[in-house]
Amino acid sequence: MANHKLLLLPGDGIGPEVMGQVEKIVSWFEKQGLGSFSLERGLVGGAAYDAHKQAISEGDMKLAQDADAVLFGAVGGPKWADVPYQHRPEAGLLRLRKDLGLFANLRPAICYPALASASSLKPEVVEGLDILIVRELTGGVYFGEPKEIVTLEDGSKRGVDTQLYTTGEIERICAVAFELARTRRNKVSSAEKHNVMKTGVLWKQTVTALHAKSYKDVELEHVLADNCAMQLVRWPKQYDVIVCDNLFGDILSDVAAMLTGSLGMLPSASLGAEDPATGKRKALYEPVHGSAPDIAGKGLANPIAMIGSFAMALRYSFGAGEAADRLEGAIADVLGAGTRTKDIAAPGANAVSTTEMGDAIVKALEARG
Ligand code: NAI
Ligand code: MG
Repeated sequence: MANHKLLLLPGDGIGPEVMGQVEKIVSWFEKQGLGSFSLERGLVGGAAYDAHKQAISEGDMKLAQDADAVLFGAVGGPKWADVPYQHRPEAGLLRLRKDLGLFANLRPAICYPALASASSLKPEVVEGLDILIVRELTGGVYFGEPKEIVTLEDGSKRGVDTQLYTTGEIERICAVAFELARTRRNKVSSAEKHNVMKTGVLWKQTVTALHAKSYKDVELEHVLADNCAMQLVRWPKQYDVIVCDNLFGDILSDVAAMLTGSLGMLPSASLGAEDPATGKRKALYEPVHGSAPDIAGKGLANPIAMIGSFAMALRYSFGAGEAADRLEGAIADVLGAGTRTKDIAAPGANAVSTTEMGDAIVKALEARG
């Protein structure tokens, strides 16, 4: 059995509480002989700043480089509001993304049947929903130069952001989308705006050529990004994998996220390039939510986003798709049985604590045999 090197970076606020639940699940898989993990633990964000005055230490960056996967909790909080800008908690996450070259952000939107009625959309629109947004994370308008505010001759100002994409950047993100679609329902929807943007024209041409060259077995459709946003709210089940640039992905993934309910339910993955020698990718898995200082230390945090992030690590970094299915199945069982943390419970209904939710998921794993 392969030994998987996993670096845990719990971070701040509710990060350590939700990470603690993942640790129980890791031990359960090990005890059952279903996986072998060597765990390292490090500090990130405010916790790292308190310990050594930077948002992640060189030693922990080295551990991240050496790990098969990094599990990241959340960073930030009012305690670090006044730390120097370059050491602010978020800098730890940005450094990890940059140094590990994590260009592909994966955000699944899964609607567990038991929670379909909690969505703001009609239950039949979201029940059984299982789509995946693949967002380009390191290019596009958030990084393109020039990026500036210029003062004009008449004293007024002009803000400039630049959307830039190369064929290489488009190919590598679209290849990730096609590969993932092959493990799912075999369909990729590429969202851009070729009607008004040159990068959109290039995006469409590039994905079309890549499809013809290497992925003819996968269904490819092109959709204008604004229409995609509308379709996500109208009938999201038409999609399997949606691939898009950084800006559209930022928006579309938030739209998709809210189809399924609470922030406490949403996992994510960020992947780097495949190492041609080993076939492995650098990868970081994290819940979409932040450090939730308003509920930290109170046992109120929902650990499902963090546990779901570990399920993604099993699937995408450890080649353990069955174990991932089993873990997600256990989450569905627990929700099906009516177990709820406060964020997903009906107003006034009984809710379990973070630890109780973690324990219930371990029990449900056990019950699945
Ligand atoms: P947040 O996601 O921490 O919280 C937003 C709301 O959702 C809060 O009311 C919170 O209690 C609730 N919530 C979040 N996760 C939950 C969970 N697992 N279970 C139950 N309820 C949950 O976002 P907010 O309040 O904007 O930011 C708080 C801090 O987190 C800030 O310092 C921010 O910079 C940081 N942050 C960090 C992120 C990261 O580490 N990737 C991402 C987003 C924010
Ligand atoms: Mg966003």
